[in-house]
Amino acid sequence: VVICHCRAVNDRAIRDVALAVGSTAPEQITAVCGAGGHCGGCLPALREVLAELACAGARTPEVSAA
Ligand code: FES
Repeated sequence: VVICHCRAVNDRAIRDVALAVGSTAPEQITAVCGAGGHCGGCLPALREVLAELACAGARTPEVSAA
C-alpha cells in the first residue's frame, strides 16, 4: 500500500526504514526516505503504520511473576 504518494513510499518501505534506524519517529522516517516531507498529507497514515509497528515491537513476552 502506497502511503506517501509524493515520494512513492509504501508501508513496507516505511517499516524497513523504521527497523533500519531503530525508530518509529515520523521525523526519522522522513529524514531517511522522504516520506511525509513534501505535502505532509500522508503523515496521519505514516503515523498509523509506525504506531502499528511500535505496538508489534512492544509485544515481547511479558515477565509476570504472578
Ligand atoms: S503524500 Fe507524503 S509528503 Fe505528500
